[in-house]
Amino acid sequence: MVMMNRQIVLDVDTGNDDAVAIAMAAGRSGLDVLACTTVRGNLPLEETTDNTLRMLGAIGRPDIPVYAGLGRPFAPRPYPFAPGRSAGLMHESVLPLPPSTRTAESTSAIDWLIATLRATTQPITIVALAPLTNIAAAATAAPEIVDAIDEIVIMGGGHEFGNRTPAAEFNIYADPIAADVVFQAGFQRVTVMPLDATHDVVTDRAMIEQIRALGTDGAAAVAAVLDFYIAGHDASHPMDSPASAPVHDALCVSYLMDPEVVDLRHVAVSVDTTGFQNFGRTTVDVNHRGNAAPNVWWGFSADQARFDRTVLESLRA
Ligand code: BDR
Ligand code: CA
Repeated sequence: MVMMNRQIVLDVDTGNDDAVAIAMAAGRSGLDVLACTTVRGNLPLEETTDNTLRMLGAIGRPDIPVYAGLGRPFAPRPYPFAPGRSAGLMHESVLPLPPSTRTAESTSAIDWLIATLRATTQPITIVALAPLTNIAAAATAAPEIVDAIDEIVIMGGGHEFGNRTPAAEFNIYADPIAADVVFQAGFQRVTVMPLDATHDVVTDRAMIEQIRALGTDGAAAVAAVLDFYIAGHDASHPMDSPASAPVHDALCVSYLMDPEVVDLRHVAVSVDTTGFQNFGRTTVDVNHRGNAAPNVWWGFSADQARFDRTVLESLRA
Protein backbone atom coordinates (compact mmCIF):
# COMPACT_ATOMS: atom_id res chain seq x y z
CA MET A 1 0.00 0.00 0.00
CA VAL A 2 1.35 3.45 -0.94
CA MET A 3 1.37 5.81 2.03
CA MET A 4 0.34 9.36 1.09
CA ASN A 5 1.90 12.39 2.66
CA ARG A 6 -0.41 14.46 4.78
CA GLN A 7 -2.10 17.12 2.62
CA ILE A 8 -2.02 20.62 4.04
CA VAL A 9 -3.14 24.14 3.18
CA LEU A 10 -1.13 27.03 4.63
CA ASP A 11 -3.19 30.12 5.49
CA VAL A 12 -0.64 32.92 5.86
CA ASP A 13 -0.03 36.65 6.28
CA THR A 14 3.59 36.54 5.08
CA GLY A 15 5.28 38.06 7.23
CA ASN A 16 8.82 36.93 7.99
CA ASP A 17 7.97 34.08 10.36
CA ASP A 18 5.24 32.83 7.97
CA ALA A 19 7.94 32.73 5.28
CA VAL A 20 10.02 30.37 7.42
CA ALA A 21 7.00 28.11 7.97
CA ILE A 22 6.29 28.06 4.21
CA ALA A 23 9.88 27.04 3.43
CA MET A 24 9.78 24.28 6.03
CA ALA A 25 6.42 22.88 4.90
CA ALA A 26 7.31 23.03 1.20
CA GLY A 27 10.73 21.52 1.88
CA ARG A 28 11.60 18.10 3.34
CA SER A 29 8.79 18.10 5.88
CA GLY A 30 6.98 14.99 4.65
CA LEU A 31 3.92 17.17 4.03
CA ASP A 32 2.22 17.97 0.70
CA VAL A 33 1.36 21.66 0.45
CA LEU A 34 -1.75 21.91 -1.74
CA ALA A 35 -1.82 25.71 -1.73
CA CYS A 36 -1.16 28.85 0.24
CA THR A 37 -4.11 31.09 1.01
CA THR A 38 -3.33 34.64 2.04
CA VAL A 39 -5.04 37.12 4.34
CA ARG A 40 -4.50 40.58 5.78
CA GLY A 41 -2.53 40.50 9.00
CA ASN A 42 1.09 41.46 9.46
CA LEU A 43 0.74 43.49 6.27
CA PRO A 44 -2.01 44.46 3.80
CA LEU A 45 -3.35 41.62 1.64
CA GLU A 46 -1.47 42.67 -1.52
CA GLU A 47 1.83 42.51 0.38
CA THR A 48 1.16 39.21 2.16
CA THR A 49 0.23 37.70 -1.21
CA ASP A 50 3.28 39.08 -3.01
CA ASN A 51 5.59 37.96 -0.17
CA THR A 52 4.10 34.46 -0.28
CA LEU A 53 4.72 34.25 -4.03
CA ARG A 54 8.28 35.54 -3.56
CA MET A 55 9.06 32.95 -0.89
CA LEU A 56 7.67 30.07 -2.95
CA GLY A 57 9.73 31.22 -5.94
CA ALA A 58 12.91 31.63 -3.89
CA ILE A 59 12.70 28.11 -2.49
CA GLY A 60 12.05 26.55 -5.89
CA ARG A 61 8.36 25.78 -5.29
CA PRO A 62 6.52 28.20 -7.62
CA ASP A 63 4.33 25.21 -8.49
CA ILE A 64 2.38 25.70 -5.23
CA PRO A 65 -0.60 27.94 -6.08
CA VAL A 66 -1.44 31.04 -4.06
CA TYR A 67 -5.03 32.20 -3.51
CA ALA A 68 -5.65 35.67 -2.06
CA GLY A 69 -8.35 35.86 0.59
CA LEU A 70 -9.83 38.64 2.66
CA GLY A 71 -8.27 42.06 3.08
CA ARG A 72 -10.39 43.09 6.08
CA PRO A 73 -11.23 41.44 9.40
CA PHE A 74 -14.77 40.33 10.31
CA ALA A 75 -14.84 43.04 12.93
CA PRO A 76 -12.06 45.54 13.47
CA ARG A 77 -11.24 46.47 17.06
CA PRO A 78 -13.91 48.78 18.44
CA TYR A 79 -11.49 50.76 20.63
CA PRO A 80 -8.57 52.99 19.79
CA PHE A 81 -5.24 51.42 20.60
CA ALA A 82 -1.72 52.66 19.93
CA PRO A 83 0.16 50.97 17.09
CA GLY A 84 2.22 48.02 18.30
CA ARG A 85 5.88 48.62 19.03
CA SER A 86 6.68 45.98 16.45
CA ALA A 87 4.82 47.68 13.60
CA GLY A 88 7.09 47.52 10.56
CA LEU A 89 10.03 46.13 12.50
CA MET A 90 9.63 42.37 12.14
CA HIS A 91 7.80 41.87 8.86
CA GLU A 92 9.07 43.29 5.60
CA SER A 93 6.56 44.76 3.16
CA VAL A 94 8.75 43.28 0.47
CA LEU A 95 10.81 40.25 1.48
CA PRO A 96 14.48 40.44 0.38
CA LEU A 97 13.81 37.93 -2.40
CA PRO A 98 13.27 38.31 -6.17
CA PRO A 99 9.74 38.83 -7.51
CA SER A 100 7.99 35.61 -8.44
CA THR A 101 7.44 34.58 -12.03
CA ARG A 102 3.91 33.62 -11.00
CA THR A 103 0.90 35.58 -9.88
CA ALA A 104 -1.90 34.67 -7.50
CA GLU A 105 -4.74 32.56 -8.91
CA SER A 106 -7.89 34.38 -10.02
CA THR A 107 -10.16 32.38 -7.67
CA SER A 108 -10.51 33.83 -4.18
CA ALA A 109 -9.11 31.86 -1.24
CA ILE A 110 -12.60 31.45 0.23
CA ASP A 111 -14.08 30.00 -2.98
CA TRP A 112 -11.05 27.74 -3.47
CA LEU A 113 -11.17 26.45 0.12
CA ILE A 114 -14.87 25.65 -0.13
CA ALA A 115 -14.60 23.96 -3.55
CA THR A 116 -11.49 21.97 -2.56
CA LEU A 117 -12.84 20.82 0.78
CA ARG A 118 -16.18 19.83 -0.78
CA ALA A 119 -14.47 17.82 -3.51
CA THR A 120 -11.68 16.10 -1.60
CA THR A 121 -11.71 12.38 -0.93
CA GLN A 122 -8.71 12.68 1.43
CA PRO A 123 -8.69 14.56 4.73
CA ILE A 124 -6.95 17.92 4.53
CA THR A 125 -5.11 19.69 7.37
CA ILE A 126 -5.38 23.46 7.63
CA VAL A 127 -2.33 25.23 9.04
CA ALA A 128 -3.52 28.71 10.00
CA LEU A 129 -0.65 31.12 10.70
CA ALA A 130 -2.52 34.40 10.54
CA PRO A 131 -5.74 36.12 11.64
CA LEU A 132 -8.50 33.53 11.16
CA THR A 133 -10.62 35.64 8.79
CA ASN A 134 -10.39 33.34 5.74
CA ILE A 135 -11.08 30.16 7.70
CA ALA A 136 -14.03 31.67 9.57
CA ALA A 137 -15.49 33.01 6.32
CA ALA A 138 -15.22 29.65 4.55
CA ALA A 139 -16.64 27.74 7.54
CA THR A 140 -19.52 30.22 7.82
CA ALA A 141 -20.41 30.11 4.12
CA ALA A 142 -20.14 26.31 3.89
CA PRO A 143 -20.28 24.75 7.39
CA GLU A 144 -20.04 21.21 5.99
CA ILE A 145 -16.41 21.75 4.95
CA VAL A 146 -15.22 21.29 8.53
CA ASP A 147 -15.87 17.55 8.11
CA ALA A 148 -13.19 17.34 5.42
CA ILE A 149 -10.54 18.78 7.77
CA ASP A 150 -8.86 16.25 10.04
CA GLU A 151 -7.10 18.94 12.06
CA ILE A 152 -6.66 22.68 12.08
CA VAL A 153 -3.32 23.77 13.51
CA ILE A 154 -3.36 27.41 14.55
CA MET A 155 -0.65 29.80 15.64
CA GLY A 156 -2.42 32.16 17.98
CA GLY A 157 -3.34 33.20 21.48
CA GLY A 158 -1.59 33.13 24.81
CA HIS A 159 -2.54 31.79 28.21
CA GLU A 160 0.17 33.51 30.25
CA PHE A 161 0.65 36.71 28.23
CA GLY A 162 -0.01 38.57 25.00
CA ASN A 163 2.25 40.26 22.49
CA ARG A 164 0.02 42.73 20.61
CA THR A 165 -1.41 43.97 23.91
CA PRO A 166 -0.64 42.82 27.47
CA ALA A 167 -3.58 40.41 27.13
CA ALA A 168 -3.81 39.50 23.45
CA GLU A 169 -1.69 37.77 20.87
CA PHE A 170 -1.56 39.39 17.43
CA ASN A 171 -3.37 36.82 15.24
CA ILE A 172 -6.34 36.62 17.61
CA TYR A 173 -6.36 40.36 18.37
CA ALA A 174 -6.45 41.16 14.63
CA ASP A 175 -9.80 39.37 14.21
CA PRO A 176 -11.24 37.99 17.47
CA ILE A 177 -14.67 37.36 15.99
CA ALA A 178 -13.12 35.13 13.33
CA ALA A 179 -11.15 33.27 16.00
CA ASP A 180 -14.30 32.78 18.05
CA VAL A 181 -16.12 31.40 14.99
CA VAL A 182 -13.29 28.96 14.30
CA PHE A 183 -13.06 27.76 17.92
CA GLN A 184 -16.78 27.01 17.85
CA ALA A 185 -17.13 25.69 14.29
CA GLY A 186 -17.07 22.01 15.23
CA PHE A 187 -13.70 20.99 13.75
CA GLN A 188 -12.71 17.41 14.58
CA ARG A 189 -9.50 18.65 16.15
CA VAL A 190 -8.26 22.17 16.84
CA THR A 191 -4.60 22.37 17.88
CA VAL A 192 -3.15 25.69 18.96
CA MET A 193 0.48 26.79 19.20
CA PRO A 194 0.15 29.86 21.44
CA LEU A 195 2.82 32.21 22.78
CA ASP A 196 3.18 29.88 25.81
CA ALA A 197 4.80 27.33 23.49
CA THR A 198 6.38 29.52 20.81
CA HIS A 199 8.36 31.51 23.38
CA ASP A 200 10.03 28.29 24.51
CA VAL A 201 11.71 27.79 21.14
CA VAL A 202 13.82 30.72 20.06
CA THR A 203 16.07 31.10 17.06
CA ASP A 204 19.35 32.97 17.40
CA ARG A 205 22.18 34.07 15.14
CA ALA A 206 24.11 30.81 15.66
CA MET A 207 21.06 28.88 14.41
CA ILE A 208 20.75 31.19 11.41
CA GLU A 209 24.34 30.34 10.51
CA GLN A 210 23.55 26.62 10.81
CA ILE A 211 20.60 27.13 8.47
CA ARG A 212 22.69 29.16 6.01
CA ALA A 213 25.38 26.46 6.03
CA LEU A 214 22.87 23.94 4.63
CA GLY A 215 23.58 25.64 1.31
CA THR A 216 20.15 25.14 -0.26
CA ASP A 217 17.97 27.79 -1.90
CA GLY A 218 15.40 27.31 0.82
CA ALA A 219 17.98 27.69 3.57
CA ALA A 220 19.41 30.86 2.00
CA ALA A 221 15.95 32.45 1.73
CA VAL A 222 15.08 31.49 5.31
CA ALA A 223 18.37 32.89 6.63
CA ALA A 224 17.72 36.17 4.80
CA VAL A 225 14.24 36.66 6.25
CA LEU A 226 15.40 35.62 9.73
CA ASP A 227 18.24 38.18 9.74
CA PHE A 228 15.66 40.97 9.51
CA TYR A 229 13.12 39.31 11.81
CA ILE A 230 15.54 38.73 14.67
CA ALA A 231 16.90 42.26 14.51
CA GLY A 232 13.33 43.66 14.59
CA HIS A 233 12.22 41.35 17.37
CA ASP A 234 15.28 42.24 19.42
CA ALA A 235 14.50 45.94 19.03
CA SER A 236 10.79 45.68 19.87
CA HIS A 237 10.32 42.58 22.08
CA PRO A 238 13.76 41.68 23.52
CA MET A 239 14.00 38.14 24.85
CA ASP A 240 16.15 36.98 27.78
CA SER A 241 18.95 35.96 25.44
CA PRO A 242 19.96 38.81 23.11
CA ALA A 243 19.57 38.55 19.32
CA SER A 244 17.05 35.74 19.50
CA ALA A 245 13.35 35.47 18.68
CA PRO A 246 10.47 33.00 18.68
CA VAL A 247 9.67 32.17 15.04
CA HIS A 248 6.06 31.56 16.02
CA ASP A 249 4.57 30.18 12.80
CA ALA A 250 7.39 27.69 12.28
CA LEU A 251 6.29 25.77 15.39
CA CYS A 252 3.08 24.68 13.63
CA VAL A 253 5.04 22.97 10.87
CA SER A 254 7.48 21.57 13.40
CA TYR A 255 4.51 20.04 15.28
CA LEU A 256 3.24 18.34 12.11
CA MET A 257 6.70 16.85 11.55
CA ASP A 258 7.19 15.85 15.19
CA PRO A 259 4.08 16.05 17.42
CA GLU A 260 6.23 15.53 20.51
CA VAL A 261 7.79 18.96 20.04
CA VAL A 262 4.94 20.45 22.06
CA ASP A 263 3.22 19.57 25.31
CA LEU A 264 -0.55 19.64 24.55
CA ARG A 265 -3.55 19.56 26.89
CA HIS A 266 -7.23 19.43 25.90
CA VAL A 267 -8.86 22.54 27.39
CA ALA A 268 -11.78 24.90 26.96
CA VAL A 269 -10.68 28.11 25.26
CA SER A 270 -12.77 31.20 24.58
CA VAL A 271 -11.97 34.54 22.94
CA ASP A 272 -12.84 37.95 24.33
CA THR A 273 -14.57 39.72 21.45
CA THR A 274 -15.90 42.70 23.39
CA GLY A 275 -13.53 43.64 26.22
CA PHE A 276 -11.44 46.79 26.36
CA GLN A 277 -8.19 45.80 28.08
CA ASN A 278 -8.81 42.15 27.16
CA PHE A 279 -10.04 42.55 23.57
CA GLY A 280 -8.71 39.51 21.67
CA ARG A 281 -7.54 37.68 24.79
CA THR A 282 -7.79 33.87 24.83
CA THR A 283 -9.06 32.56 28.16
CA VAL A 284 -7.87 29.02 28.84
CA ASP A 285 -9.84 27.17 31.51
CA VAL A 286 -6.91 25.29 33.03
CA ASN A 287 -8.69 24.65 36.33
CA HIS A 288 -12.11 23.69 34.91
CA ARG A 289 -13.94 26.67 36.41
CA GLY A 290 -16.42 26.99 33.54
CA ASN A 291 -19.02 24.68 32.08
CA ALA A 292 -17.63 24.58 28.56
CA ALA A 293 -16.28 21.29 27.25
CA PRO A 294 -12.66 21.24 26.03
CA ASN A 295 -12.53 22.48 22.44
CA VAL A 296 -8.82 22.96 21.80
CA TRP A 297 -5.53 21.07 22.15
CA TRP A 298 -3.37 23.85 23.60
CA GLY A 299 0.42 23.90 23.63
CA PHE A 300 1.71 24.82 27.07
CA SER A 301 5.41 24.38 26.35
CA ALA A 302 7.75 23.30 23.56
CA ASP A 303 11.09 21.55 23.21
CA GLN A 304 13.96 23.58 21.73
CA ALA A 305 16.12 20.65 20.56
CA ARG A 306 13.24 18.93 18.78
CA PHE A 307 12.20 22.21 17.18
CA ASP A 308 15.71 22.94 15.90
CA ARG A 309 15.95 19.42 14.49
CA THR A 310 12.76 19.83 12.45
CA VAL A 311 13.85 23.22 11.12
CA LEU A 312 17.20 21.88 9.89
CA GLU A 313 15.67 18.64 8.57
CA SER A 314 12.99 20.43 6.54
CA LEU A 315 15.47 22.80 4.87
CA ARG A 316 18.05 20.20 3.83
CA ALA A 317 18.45 19.54 0.09
C1 BDR B 1 1.88 35.86 15.06
O1 BDR B 1 1.56 37.18 14.65
C2 BDR B 1 2.23 37.50 13.46
O2 BDR B 1 2.86 38.74 13.59
C3 BDR B 1 3.22 36.40 13.20
O3 BDR B 1 3.37 36.17 11.81
C4 BDR B 1 2.62 35.21 13.91
O4 BDR B 1 1.70 34.54 13.09
C5 BDR B 1 2.66 35.93 16.36
O5 BDR B 1 1.93 36.56 17.35
CA1 CA C 1 1.74 34.88 10.66
